[in-house]
Amino acid sequence: MEPARQASTSPVTLSSLQKMKKAGERIACLTAYDASFAALLERAGVDVVLVGDSLGMVIQGHSSTLSVRMTDMIYHSEAVSRACGRSLLVVDMPFMSYATPEQALGNAARLMAEGGAHVVKIEGGRVRLDIVRALTDQGIPVCAHLGLTPQAVHKLGGYRLQGRDESDAQRIFDDAQALQEAGASMLVLECVPDALAARITDALEIPTIGIGAGPGCDGQVLVLYDMLGITPHKAPRFVKDFLQEAGTVEGALRAYTEAVKSGAFPGPEHSFE
Ligand code: KIV
Repeated sequence: MEPARQASTSPVTLSSLQKMKKAGERIACLTAYDASFAALLERAGVDVVLVGDSLGMVIQGHSSTLSVRMTDMIYHSEAVSRACGRSLLVVDMPFMSYATPEQALGNAARLMAEGGAHVVKIEGGRVRLDIVRALTDQGIPVCAHLGLTPQAVHKLGGYRLQGRDESDAQRIFDDAQALQEAGASMLVLECVPDALAARITDALEIPTIGIGAGPGCDGQVLVLYDMLGITPHKAPRFVKDFLQEAGTVEGALRAYTEAVKSGAFPGPEHSFE
């Protein structure tokens, strides 16, 4: 077996991500849903582990993330957090668990206290500003999520590229700035044109993590089972199957981390103009 990547052993924090952004050092993020995979991600040097509500699709077999419950997120987050000694643990707040500031506070507190989350992730733009303020005022760090927001799949009319026309792109740009001003500490940009993601990344002080958003983001994330090529559905264009080339799960995780760090992933074939 090849040796594990020599990653720093000091814990990744929001301020270390901030420093990485300033230094131009790319951030590697992947999803995980259990302790065994989370431990492999750590060994491969992944900086940020996301317990995504994508678990509704890849673990539970649903066609969307909408039926994921708080108890599911807590269960998977607890398992992942037991294996995360170094990585920053970001956990998704599931659909309709943050509709009001009061509800968001109660549920985010559970994800942190019971699930071990360091940061909670919520989807949506300016409509979420009061939620972001309420959480950050109580010391709960927030990762925002713009572009293709899967919890709004029916409103968006499917899983498709966002920010294609100028007014939509400007709306996403303005949302990103407003979320940062409201206190968000990180931003996921999903399925938006490269140029828009790069423009947002340059304008913001907080790190951006892209998925289908081109190489101009501060970091990259993929759904673990997609980048291992083990999901039954057709992978989106922005996914690369790292297991196919590497041959082992550990090798695939290391190859992904190294490709993100070196800027080799995502290539033009994984991005949208
Ligand atoms: O749920 C998830 O896994 C996510 C990523 C795709 C960013 O939100």
